Amino acid sequence: MASTLTIKDLHVAIEDKEILKGVNLEIKGGEIHAIMGPNGTGKSTLSSAIMGHPKYEVTSGSITLDEEDVLEMEVDERARAGLFLAMQYPSEINGVTNSDFLRTSINARREEGQEITLMKFIRELDKTMELLEMDLDMAQRYLNEGFSGGEKKRNEILQLMMLKPKIAILDEVDSGLDIDALKIVSKGINEMRSSDFGCLIITHYQRLLNYITPDYVHVMMQGRIVKSGGPELAQRLESEGYDWIKAELGIEDETVGQEA
Ligand SMILES: Nc1ncnc2c1ncn2[C@@H]1O[C@H](COP(=O)(O)OP(=O)(O)O)[C@@H](O)[C@H]1O
Ligand SMILES: [Mg+2]
Repeated sequence: MASTLTIKDLHVAIEDKEILKGVNLEIKGGEIHAIMGPNGTGKSTLSSAIMGHPKYEVTSGSITLDEEDVLEMEVDERARAGLFLAMQYPSEINGVTNSDFLRTSINARREEGQEITLMKFIRELDKTMELLEMDLDMAQRYLNEGFSGGEKKRNEILQLMMLKPKIAILDEVDSGLDIDALKIVSKGINEMRSSDFGCLIITHYQRLLNYITPDYVHVMMQGRIVKSGGPELAQRLESEGYDWIKAELGIEDETVGQEA
């Protein structure tokens, strides 16, 4: 069944500094949304708040997945409810192989007695790694350890495809990718497209959106979504930058902060 993630008037602070100042967004199964915006405007803060990173304090507003209050859930409950985050900076975990991590994550989301069989898991893993043109040896390496930037991003898409979440947030999954890797990552995301899958793509560049056509494009500035439109909005940002939006909205050109 298609799910809907609803974010209403979300305010988020980090160490008492307000970063998000009233974000409204609704992502339904079947839809692909893109958020673009200058550095330090709160895009990663939004993704961390949705996943429940403890450092990001939701001071007001709501996040719901269908009828459920996401803010009441622990991080693992959010994952089990069907939320997924591909992090801008994926963590390395020494001692845990990629394959074990994936299988454990899949099983953690299933009822007891409904675990994926080893055979089925391996079949699916091999098939997905092949589609993403990943070296099969990477399954047995420690999670992200010594992976190149591009390999980490591809690995995030491997997790996405294996876990099959209802709603995924992909934070700069395209940064640091060469053009071939960009195409492969896009192929993986497009493969996921279905009426049961909603996706929020955070990106700096329009180029990813040449391969994945979003239904909606949003611009985030100074902790708010200040403009929404279709794919043509991303194209205009690519050619003209953000100044015209600032002018249109009368936003002062102050520095909001540095990217974390
Ligand atoms: N863990 C953190 N501790 C302190 N400040 C942070 C942290 N994470 C983000 N910030 C600050 O919050 C603001 C927004 O950051 P971020 O959400 O990463 O922006 P974006 O992803 O849009 O580039 C920045 O000013 C950044 O320095
Ligand atoms: Mg960011």
